[in-house]
Amino acid sequence: MTVDLSNNDRAMLRAMLTDPSREWAIKELLESTGWNDQVHVAGSGQSLSELGLVTVSETQIRTISLDSEGKKALEHGLLEERIWKWYIGSDEDKRNMEDLFQAGFQRNEAGPGIGLLKSIGMTLESGNLVVDDEGAIASIISERQDFISKISNRGVEDSELSAQLIRHFSSRKGLISVDVQVSRTWSLTEEGALVDSELLSHVEMIGEVTTELLQGDSWRGAKFKPFDVNAPTVTPTGGRPHPMQALIERIRKVFLEMGFSEIEGNFVQSAGWNMDALYIPQSHPARTMQDTFYLSSPEKVEVREEYLDLWSKVHEHGHDTGSRGWGGRFDREEAQKGLLRTHTTVNTVRHIAENPGEPSRVFGIGRVFRQETIDRTHLPEFHQIEGIIHEENANLPMLITTLKTFYSKMGYGDVRVRPAYFPYTEPSVEVDILWRGEWLELGGAGIFRPEVTEPLGTEWPVCAWGMGLERLAMLILELDDIRQLYQPDLEKLGQMPIL
Ligand code: PHE
Repeated sequence: MTVDLSNNDRAMLRAMLTDPSREWAIKELLESTGWNDQVHVAGSGQSLSELGLVTVSETQIRTISLDSEGKKALEHGLLEERIWKWYIGSDEDKRNMEDLFQAGFQRNEAGPGIGLLKSIGMTLESGNLVVDDEGAIASIISERQDFISKISNRGVEDSELSAQLIRHFSSRKGLISVDVQVSRTWSLTEEGALVDSELLSHVEMIGEVTTELLQGDSWRGAKFKPFDVNAPTVTPTGGRPHPMQALIERIRKVFLEMGFSEIEGNFVQSAGWNMDALYIPQSHPARTMQDTFYLSSPEKVEVREEYLDLWSKVHEHGHDTGSRGWGGRFDREEAQKGLLRTHTTVNTVRHIAENPGEPSRVFGIGRVFRQETIDRTHLPEFHQIEGIIHEENANLPMLITTLKTFYSKMGYGDVRVRPAYFPYTEPSVEVDILWRGEWLELGGAGIFRPEVTEPLGTEWPVCAWGMGLERLAMLILELDDIRQLYQPDLEKLGQMPIL
C-alpha cells in the first residue's frame, strides 16, 4: 500500500510514526514535517484517511466576542442597567416615561430599554413604572453585565459562558459576535501505526510528461505521479459558441461532407414563391393570417409574369402536368402578397427555378416564421434544415437513405419514415427518429409533384425534405422546453454540452 503514497503522504506518515499514539494538532504536524503550508497537512491527511491509515477528527470551536454595542455596554453599562440605575435612584412619583426623558434618555433608547425591563418584570401602570421584585430584576441585570465583562476585550470560548445568555445576547443587535472555527486533529489508525517507517523514504516522482523527458532516458524506471481523473474540478468558463450556433455548424459540416452545397434565401417572400409554387391551394387553411405573418411593408412582392401565368394554369386546371389542378380561379394579387417565409422549402424551389437544367444537391439551414402560441414545444420563429436532390434518377430510396445517413452522422441511428401528406410532394413521408425508446417526429419529406417541378422548368424528379432544427437541438441538449434554447441565461448556457 505504501507504494502508492505521494511524497507528502509519506512525510506526514513518517512524522506521525515518531509518536504513533498521539493526537496531532495542525501546529505539531507542521513542526514535525517541516512544512509551512497547512494545505499539505489537509491534503495528505485526507488521502491517508481514505487509505484507512489516519483518522481525522473535527471539532468546532465557537468564540464569542463583543460587537460594537457590546463594547459600549462594557464601558457605560447595558441599556437596561443604565435605566435600572435611574429607576432605583428616582422617587416613586418620578418613575415615568416623561422623567426618563428628562433624565437624558433619548427616545430610541428609552423605548427599547423599557421593553427590556418589561420582559424581566417591570410593568407600566397608569403611566407609572412599577416593579414587584426589585431583587429579581437586579440579579438578572447583574448576570448580564457580568457576562459582558467576562468577554471584555478578548474572545471567549462558548463553553466558558452561559448558553442561555449567549442565546439572549445573540438575539440582540450588535452586542456579541460568534466566530466558528473548525479545528482538526489527526491520529494514526491501528493499521497506520503498523506501517514500517523504512518503507516511507522520499521517492523521485514525475508529475509532468514532457517532450524533453521522453527524449532522454531518465523516465526509464522512474515513478509517475498518479492522476485522479475523477477528481472534482471547476468547470472551465470562457467564451464559446452558443449551442445553437455550434449545432448549426455541425449540421452544415455533415451535409458538406455528404457532397451537398449550401444555399440561402430572404426572410421576406411572396406568397407565390412560398406557397403557389408549391401547389398549395390558395384556399388552404395554412395560408390564413392566423398561421402566416403577412407584411404591411412590403405589402406586395412582385412575381414575374411568366410564373404567375404558369401557376394560374397549374392551379386552375393542371396545365400540361397531367393533373386536373385545384379548379377555381387563381388570384394573382394573392400570389404577390408579402409575407415572412413559413418554411425554407421556398429556397429550394427557387433554386430549381434558377438552375432548372443543372443537377443539384443543396441544403440550407434557415429561420422560418409562423403564428404560433409560445409554449414548451412551439416558437413563432424557428429553424428548418432543408434540402433537395435534383437529378435525373432521383427517387424515394435515395431520399430515405440520405436522411438516414444524415441522422446517423448526427448520432441517431434509428430512423423510420411513415406515409404522410403535403400538397407539394407525392409520395410524402414523415421522418421519425428513435430516442429513449420513443419515436419522435422530426420533419417531412417527399418527391416534388409535377405540378411543382414543371413550372420550374425541370422534368427530373426532386427529393425534398424539411426538418425541425430546434426539435433536434432539444434532444441533443436534453432540454424539455424549447424556450430554454434562446434564454440568455449564461449560467445554463455554460452548462450545456459542447457540441
Ligand atoms: N415544408 C415542410 C414543413 O415545413 C417540410 C417538407 C419539405 C415536406 C419538403 C416535404 C418536402 O413542414
